[in-house]
This record gives sequence, C-alpha cells and structure tokens, in this order.
Amino acid sequence: MEVIIRPTTAQAVELTARLLADTVKAKPACKLGLATGATMEAVYDVLVKMNKAGEVDFSQVTSFNLDEYIGLGPDDVNSYRYYMNHHLFDHINIDKRNTHLPNGLAEDELAEGINYEADIEDAGGIDVQLLGIGNDGHVGFNEPGSSLSSRTRAKSLTPVTYRQNCVYFNPPESMPKRAFTMGVGTILDANRVILLITGARKAEIAARAIEGPVTSMVTASALQMHPNTVVILDADAAAQLTLKEYYDWVFANEPKWKNYR
Ligand code: F6R
Repeated sequence: MEVIIRPTTAQAVELTARLLADTVKAKPACKLGLATGATMEAVYDVLVKMNKAGEVDFSQVTSFNLDEYIGLGPDDVNSYRYYMNHHLFDHINIDKRNTHLPNGLAEDELAEGINYEADIEDAGGIDVQLLGIGNDGHVGFNEPGSSLSSRTRAKSLTPVTYRQNCVYFNPPESMPKRAFTMGVGTILDANRVILLITGARKAEIAARAIEGPVTSMVTASALQMHPNTVVILDADAAAQLTLKEYYDWVFANEPKWKNYR
C-alpha cells in the first residue's frame, strides 16, 4: 500500500483524476471500477473538464460501479445509476452501453450478484478500481464484519452508513437499508486500486484502515493485502497517520511520482 498526502483537497482530487486519466491514455479500452459519494464528485468534475479539453478519450472505456441501492431504479435521483449519469457519463464521450452498475430492481438478488461478477470476468477484470471510504471503514458497501473474500451480493447497511447517506434522501427515512455491492474479494482482484480520502471527519478511520490491523471490522484495511494500492489523502484526512514523514519522503523520491509532484 502506498500512501500519498497532498496539502489540499483539490490537489488530492487532481492527483486521483490524473492517475485515472493516465490509465485511460495508456490503455484506451481499459476497465474502470468506479465509486459514487460526495468525495468523488470533484474527481468526476476534473475528468469531465479533461474530456472536454480533449485530454482524455473515454470512447473505448468500460466501467463497473461498486454498488447500487436495492429498490431504486435508474431514474430515481438517489440511485447510483442516476448519480453516475449526472456527474460523469452524460458529460463525457463514454458509450453508456459499456457502463455497468448492479440492477437495484433485480428480483433475484443471488443471481444479480453472480451475474455482475460474471460480467466483470467476461470483460477481463478491472484495471483500476476507484474507492472512497465510509465513516465505518467500508469500501463499496462492505460493512464491518463483511468477509474479506466476499463477492458481489446484497448487503444490509449499518446505522452509521444510514446516518451518513440519509441526508441525501427526501425524506431521509426513504433511504434503502440494503444495497448490492462488489465484495472485498472482488475489489482485491482489481489490478490497481486508488482509494481517495478527504476531510477531517475521515482522519480517524483513515488511520485505522492504513496503519491499523487488517480486520473485517474495517474492510478498507484489507487493501493492505493488495499488491498495487495507492491511498491518496488530503492533509486533514491524513492528520492521524503516524508515518507521515515517510509517506512524504516516498512521494518526493520515488521516480514513478516524478510527473505528479
Ligand atoms: C460509493 C461507495 C462508498 C463511498 C463511501 C464514502 O459507491 O461505495 O463506499 O465511497 O461511503 O462516501 P462519501 O464520499 O460520500 O463520504
């Protein structure tokens, strides 16, 4: 796990977007794993600008999102399909037929998870998986206690996640309490993982995920076992890390980060 700390949120977002764009430039038909949530909105803003400026071409990209609320259809303003169209897909030259999210209205939940896994496998797997982290340490909706080898499935959300996300719903109580999510095992199969963490409210959980023990109680900590994960934080989210000096040293000295400093 590599850890990169950027002084501001804007710089952390910019670095994340550049890494994604560079993946697409190097492999135009790449498979991107995408995330939703407040943290990602700024990343997608940058990618839209880059696409409009002709700097990155998404025409051959295939995408797989991490999760979708159970019970919400694509036209529901709170569905993650709606979020992705609104924040990214409607504004870039991606072929929407190549964009995938679990179907929140699937009647056979077991089959939905199995089929989503099969679709990822048929596409050749995910080149880069973008992640945020929940207040309870989840990646995707892999809530505390999720198996670290789990695959795409239906999952009950925790009260912590419910409180984190119900503010986006009107009324708040209309938020679904279950979601389809890629499993921790699905995420760990991606060739590369980029976890973006911003803001002071994530500082404690970031330190537990990055420097604490690997535990299903903080599913993001499973990324410590992944051979090619970079965690990008702004200074506020990095406040409780103990090895900050080392992480800065690596960013300043590793040749591969030269073009991103
Ligand atoms: C979203 C997802 C979640 C979020 C996490 C952080 O697709 O899978 O794990 O990344 O809950 O959400 P924000 O960015 O809203 O704090």
